[in-house]
Amino acid sequence: MSAEAAGIHTSAPGVATTPRGEQNHGHHGLAGAPVPAPVPSTHPDLAEILVTENALRVKITELAAAIDADYAGQEVLLVGVLKGAVMLMADLARALTISTTLEFMAVSSYGSSTSSSGVVRILKDLDRSIEGRHVLVVEDIIDSGLTLSWLMRNLSSRHPASVEVVALLRKPEALRVDLDVRYVGFDIPSAFVVGYGLDFAERYRTLPYVGTLTPEVIAAG
Ligand code: PRP
Repeated sequence: MSAEAAGIHTSAPGVATTPRGEQNHGHHGLAGAPVPAPVPSTHPDLAEILVTENALRVKITELAAAIDADYAGQEVLLVGVLKGAVMLMADLARALTISTTLEFMAVSSYGSSTSSSGVVRILKDLDRSIEGRHVLVVEDIIDSGLTLSWLMRNLSSRHPASVEVVALLRKPEALRVDLDVRYVGFDIPSAFVVGYGLDFAERYRTLPYVGTLTPEVIAAG
């Protein structure tokens, strides 16, 4: 994510989009939980830790249990959205007990001037057809929701048996589209966050927790 992309969307038009008409297969999902109180960080570039390693571990266990229950007896194709979802993909996939296969996509917004249209380009597409498959998109964060909205439409057009989403983080205040996200880890404030896959100019992805950068680091970005 770039510094510009990190900005909080304050003047967004309310574009209502429903990526899929039909949804509910009897799934119960997992609604986003508020993050616990932030804890101080010892990392010099971070202001606070928003989601600790332990909170991530507990939440991913919960997400996996909900997904296991919903898809019992079925095989699920996990589609990780590079690069941010790499950590969640690795941990969630290993926490699931249902039968899964893994695929990855990389998408990129056309840029700040056009990203509001939700138009993204595919940098890396899926390696094979998803027709008739139960697809679960694995995302690290939903900010404006535009990337996921586009992705859901794109994947739905490939005739999967179903498409659902698991996202670790969501910023409800930044959402610009109406998205049906079956599994959400945490609802977080519209702050700039890094770690556990999330970057600032490609840095901080490997931190094992999610935290906020100091204003100085963002300004120097
Ligand atoms: C991030 C994230 C989502 C998207 C969310 O990806 O992984 O894909 O932004 O933003 P949105 O809801 O406003 O569309 P990014 O483009 O930063 O790429 P990365 O995963 O490689 O860091």
